[in-house]
Amino acid sequence: MDKKVTVVGAGNVGATAAQRLAEKELCDVVLVDIVDGVPQGKALDLTEAAPIEKHDAKLTGTNGYEATAGSDIVIITAGIPRKPGMSRDDLISTNAGIIKSVTQQIAKHSPDAILIIVSNPLDAMCHVAFDASGFPKNRVLGMAGVLDSARFRAFIAMELDVSVENTHAFVLGGHGDTMVPLPRYSTVAGIPITELMAKDRIDALVKRTANGGAEIVGLLKTGSAYYAPASAAVEMAESILKDKKKVLPCAAYLQGEYGIDDLFIGVPVKLGKNGMEQVIEITLTEDEKVALMKSAAAVQELKDDLAKLG
Ligand code: NAI
Ligand code: 2OP
Repeated sequence: MDKKVTVVGAGNVGATAAQRLAEKELCDVVLVDIVDGVPQGKALDLTEAAPIEKHDAKLTGTNGYEATAGSDIVIITAGIPRKPGMSRDDLISTNAGIIKSVTQQIAKHSPDAILIIVSNPLDAMCHVAFDASGFPKNRVLGMAGVLDSARFRAFIAMELDVSVENTHAFVLGGHGDTMVPLPRYSTVAGIPITELMAKDRIDALVKRTANGGAEIVGLLKTGSAYYAPASAAVEMAESILKDKKKVLPCAAYLQGEYGIDDLFIGVPVKLGKNGMEQVIEITLTEDEKVALMKSAAAVQELKDDLAKLG
């Protein structure tokens, strides 16, 4: 393949993302983890599936960074996931240290890469990666909105018994309990769901979406979601690798857009070969603005916590 994507963290999200990248033949994949043998074993296992899955992507597993050199994209999933009873924010001090050291290695070996951060708490970890890499804002993105929107779309399709392919949904804000699903901009075949569902049903789906991560944690008990998160990170990577210019909700560094400054938060973004090519500003109602500002305040609090960690 002429493109190379490194996935740091060969756990549930990372290994599944590597599988999807390879099976879609988007790129060669380098899988990095600190645990000796795990990235090597998973890369070899995926390589042995290739003849059956019919792809020629090369997969390499490693505990170092030499093999990652010259990556076009780096997806960072390293860190610890949530256990039942933990919020995403409980992960902050452990994961901040991990993301900082991983990003420094990545920036050294792949100075032109585009970073897609997955590790939680997502918006705060984007700040850590932004600072540690020194990369421009167009090359540091966080994955959350694509996942949260996909959950909303899945629930809309289940509710109305329609194809998921007919659905579109927009979720703005931070990746946390304050996320802002936008029913007005969520559609089935172009029809806003506000015309297709009673308000109490929309409210129920919005609540389920905001609680989507915790719902899976509660069921799995030993970790958090990974199939849909991996799909979401790979959709972002695909838009960049193929310069598709898809508009997707991503955590992006805002400098005044939506009245928010110096903060990573989820907004609609055009994703192409340069990474974040445009932040799309949409008109929000007063209620939606209030909800977005509340979400921004929650992310700001996490950013302040990071500053206290030093
Ligand atoms: P996991 O525990 O299965 O995998 C994490 C991997 O990171 C482990 O294999 C671990 O050995 C590795 N790791 C730890 N420190 C490392 C280091 N310094 N260098 C390289 N690898 C290192 O966890 P999972 O389920 O894959 O989740 C990963 C992260 O992604 C968690 O923080 C989780 O909360 C987050 N997440 C975020 C989502 C989002 O929407 N942004 C969705 C799902 C998960
Ligand atoms: C999720 O939303 C845990 O952030 C992760 O599933």
